[in-house]
Amino acid sequence: MGKHLHLKLLSALEADGLGIKHSQGWYPFIAFANAPEIIESETKMALKKLIAGNWKMNGSRAALAEVTAISVAASAIGHVESALAVPATLIAPAFAAAPGFSIGAQDCHWNDAGAHTGCLSPGMIKEAGASFVIVGHSERRTDNHETSAEVAKKADAAIQAGLLAIVCVGETDAERDAGKAVAIVTGQVRDSLPGSANGDQLAIAYEPVWAIGTGRTASAADVAEMHGAIRSELVQQMGDVGHKVRILYGGSVKASNAAELLHIPDVDGALVGGASLKADDFIPIIKAAIA
Ligand code: PGA
Repeated sequence: MGKHLHLKLLSALEADGLGIKHSQGWYPFIAFANAPEIIESETKMALKKLIAGNWKMNGSRAALAEVTAISVAASAIGHVESALAVPATLIAPAFAAAPGFSIGAQDCHWNDAGAHTGCLSPGMIKEAGASFVIVGHSERRTDNHETSAEVAKKADAAIQAGLLAIVCVGETDAERDAGKAVAIVTGQVRDSLPGSANGDQLAIAYEPVWAIGTGRTASAADVAEMHGAIRSELVQQMGDVGHKVRILYGGSVKASNAAELLHIPDVDGALVGGASLKADDFIPIIKAAIA
């Protein structure tokens, strides 16, 4: 039962005089002792973790065997979702090489079609076999000067096309050193959010820029602080839906640190770059999500 239903039930009880008023709401007599915890646990109901690989500009047809190996091994691991964002040239062949496995793209345009040389629309990548798309990765924000406003338009268009949008955010080293990490990242979240989404259509990936491809990862305390701040921002912007949006951590995730990172509160999965290229490296990360 979601929080909304709970609140409906509680107001019905209130109307019938069957409940007790508590500072956090009305609770039926029998459930009174546990009611605040019930509300809390249902609102924060554990989300199924998502482990998404990001191959970046790596991979040719020769790598399709690796896609198959990853999909076969991943399909035997229950209670966790896994996915691979491959280069656009590999979406269709990867989709064919890994039936039933979630293949995605690393970017999309916000328009359906038009004079945008070199770009791909959400509909095009979906037709090729993608079920999700990464938008606003820090490498695109830096290399291609993408703004959060553009990222929001991409996320919106992706969702309209029926794709899951993974929206990336993250602070630089200098921004963290200046004590601005939380403000920068929550600002990026606010400005990059699509107009509307449900929990299945949107995920946020928190990737500190200084942790991407460097072997450095944020401390568990910093990850917990940031994911908590992102969750609050999501709830502020989206209401209850904000509790259902998965928040992934990314930046040098590997088999040796995955279990610790993936069990921090509000870490609902991972976005994995280098360690997603080989099944031998990626599969242990997927397994760590359920360990
Ligand atoms: P990394 O990349 O795991 O190689 O650090 C993560 C990402 O950029 O998504």
